[in-house]
Amino acid sequence: MRTVTVSLGERSYDVLIGDGLLGGAARHLGRFARDGRLLVVSDETVWRLLGEQLQAGLGETTAVPILVASGEGSKSWEGLRVVVDQLLEHGVERSDVIVAFGGGVVGDLTGFAAAVVNRGCGFVQVPTTLLAQVDSSVGGKTAINVAAGKNLVGAFHQPSLVLIDPGVLETLDPREVRAGYAEIVKYALIEDAALFDWLENHAPAVLAGDRDARAYAIAAAVAGKARIVEEDERETSGRRALLNLGHTFGHALEAETGYSDRLRHGEAVALGCVLAFDFSAERGLCPADGAARVRAHFECVGLPTRLAALGLAGKGARLASHMQRDKKREGGRTAFILARGIGKAVVDRQIDLEDVAAFLDRAS
Ligand SMILES: NC(=O)c1ccc[n+]([C@@H]2O[C@H](COP(=O)([O-])OP(=O)(O)OC[C@H]3O[C@@H](n4cnc5c(N)ncnc54)[C@H](O)[C@@H]3O)[C@@H](O)[C@H]2O)c1
Ligand SMILES: [Zn+2]
Repeated sequence: MRTVTVSLGERSYDVLIGDGLLGGAARHLGRFARDGRLLVVSDETVWRLLGEQLQAGLGETTAVPILVASGEGSKSWEGLRVVVDQLLEHGVERSDVIVAFGGGVVGDLTGFAAAVVNRGCGFVQVPTTLLAQVDSSVGGKTAINVAAGKNLVGAFHQPSLVLIDPGVLETLDPREVRAGYAEIVKYALIEDAALFDWLENHAPAVLAGDRDARAYAIAAAVAGKARIVEEDERETSGRRALLNLGHTFGHALEAETGYSDRLRHGEAVALGCVLAFDFSAERGLCPADGAARVRAHFECVGLPTRLAALGLAGKGARLASHMQRDKKREGGRTAFILARGIGKAVVDRQIDLEDVAAFLDRAS
């Protein structure tokens, strides 16, 4: 088992990563039970596939499921209402610790419910998608989506523990695994060049489900996120913005494709990273061979690397207009995460959107 500690003073917690951890859940989660029960928020798919496994791992402790429908739609006012009402019906107390058992949707929703019910109770994350294991379960950002946009209502609320069992990914759709893999590459590109070297050699093992390789890659990504979160828990110094590498371009691509199945979030991040590196190379910030390596890596694992392949060539102005509307803007400017090379990401708030549009029109 690997342990990554997220050091945030009294809000510090461990992220435990190990194959088979779910089977031994009692050892790690048992202490959070009250009267032999643990309230577990999950979605219908996850509970159907993995609920029994969690219950078996908990042994004498009874998991009391609180279920929402699978999918992004549950990260809503209505989803929050359902979860909060059920927590209260089950008599949740302020000192209780509830369990988020699912992907990023369940994690974000449960974390926010935990932040507000009884003015805040504890929660632990047991993430079941690769994206949630390497990204959303760590760092304490919780939110729901509202009419004005995604993730606009939420709270910073750190979990008390994150329990990651790569074994639960076996039932995950391979396309979801690849999309989550893009976020692992993102951490390597931000500030871990050695991890990128490792991924170039081990990507097939990680994607094929080799459990040791998966656990190593997940732990390395989580350690990368923990380092940044420790330095900028609430995104005030700007350092946490580095985690948006590939996301400014990526969100524009997602908006242009209507947040549809045409382009999953992680796929948009992959192409977004390629574009961020190409743009950096074009501006003389990053060596061209570094940008070429980034593209080659995403290409070889089957993630999108070309605008044209998605029918998005020549749409620079439209894509830039999505960036203009991006809620992450501050003081009227969009923060771009560029790179001086692999593992050397930098924040640049001085980029002209017209330059970006022109670059995107030239990009293929
Ligand atoms: N809080 C953060 O810092 C942060 C960071 C990144 C993303 N997010 C959020 O995460 C969400 C996306 O998370 P996601 O990609 O995990 O989506 P998700 O939670 O919707 O899961 C994707 C699908 O996979 C299913 N699933 C989950 N685990 C499974 C398993 N082991 N086997 C089979 N099916 C399984 C789910 O039921 C769902 O249908 C977005 O809402 C995004 O905003 C949050
Ligand atoms: Zn992301």
